[in-house]
Amino acid sequence: MPKQDAQMQRKVEHLFLAEKFFTDESFADFDSVRLLHDALPELRLQDIDLSTNFLGSKMALPIYFNAITGGSRQSAQFNEELSQLAHKLSIPVSSGSMGVYLRLPAETKASFTTLRENNPDGFVMANVSAKANATQAQETIDLLHANALQIHLNVLQELAMPEGDQEFFWLDNIKDIVSHVSVPVIVKEVGFGISQKNLAQLYRVGVRNVDISGFGGTDFAQIESARNHELDLTYLDRFSLSTVESLLESLPYQNKMTIFASGGVRTPMDVIKAIRMGASAVGMSGLVLHHLQKYSLSEAEIFFDEFTKQLRLIMAAIGAKSIADIKKAPIVFDENLINYMKQRNIN
Ligand code: FNR
Repeated sequence: MPKQDAQMQRKVEHLFLAEKFFTDESFADFDSVRLLHDALPELRLQDIDLSTNFLGSKMALPIYFNAITGGSRQSAQFNEELSQLAHKLSIPVSSGSMGVYLRLPAETKASFTTLRENNPDGFVMANVSAKANATQAQETIDLLHANALQIHLNVLQELAMPEGDQEFFWLDNIKDIVSHVSVPVIVKEVGFGISQKNLAQLYRVGVRNVDISGFGGTDFAQIESARNHELDLTYLDRFSLSTVESLLESLPYQNKMTIFASGGVRTPMDVIKAIRMGASAVGMSGLVLHHLQKYSLSEAEIFFDEFTKQLRLIMAAIGAKSIADIKKAPIVFDENLINYMKQRNIN
């Protein structure tokens, strides 16, 4: 198979395998966190304001559809629906990695531009790997008239892929992209989390927005192991940082960086807990992929309408009238997380 076909094929396999391995059970450690309710919230349900400042733009909800796909026929169909759903909900939506567009613009362009066409005034994010150069990164931004750029860090995924990279010198390149592109940059993981050391490194090169995207949902060790018949890395599932652990790691950086959370988000309560732990907004890939693949666009709309209603209910129950108020809710960690914080010197 020629190389370009293999890259497009990979996109199809990722969509198929992510859905195959999707489970409602989350391993992101949200169950290790409890929020306490407020028996005297002194508020009216209809006064609760879910609007969120997303990198300077006002969004209707504190959630976004995180990077998934682009570059194949199936991706085009998927992005078509994904962007319609994002438009309906007035939430940000990301493209999947646009590396394939940079190599094969004519063949793959439409699978990406649909994200903007269906969402002319919406918040759309381009997505490149940490080895793209600044000119290429700007090209992807221009194609989508993107409001932000995501740069993904995916060492474990690359190592697990038969065709993956084996050299990882990314920091200088990230620095160059951040200082040259025309929109804010979010550096993100792809489901293995980001440590305090990595946040320090990213801060030093000028990164101010990070999506910690931790372990607990879509698991690329599992997905790539299913594609790679010579290497089985499924046993690595508890090797990386869970989304909750990674949010704890981000605590010392939350006053100087904007932290986004994703990885294993399944319920409105997971969203509220992630915000309470410092996330500015909360991303989902596996969950929306599942609802669009297994059901239909109209059923996914019903699901996310209900999701939104429940965000409001939980906010009422903890006495939060606004997203900022969520950060004041009392929170309790289980012993495992207390132990994690002690060993990692997190207060
Ligand atoms: C992804 N993800 C991803 N991330 C990225 O930055 N660029 C990409 O191209 C992709 N591709 C991709 C394909 C598929 C099929 C899925 C499900 C996911 C990772 C994604 O943005 C997110 O970081 C993780 O999936 C963790 O979130 P969930 O899926 O547990 O909500």
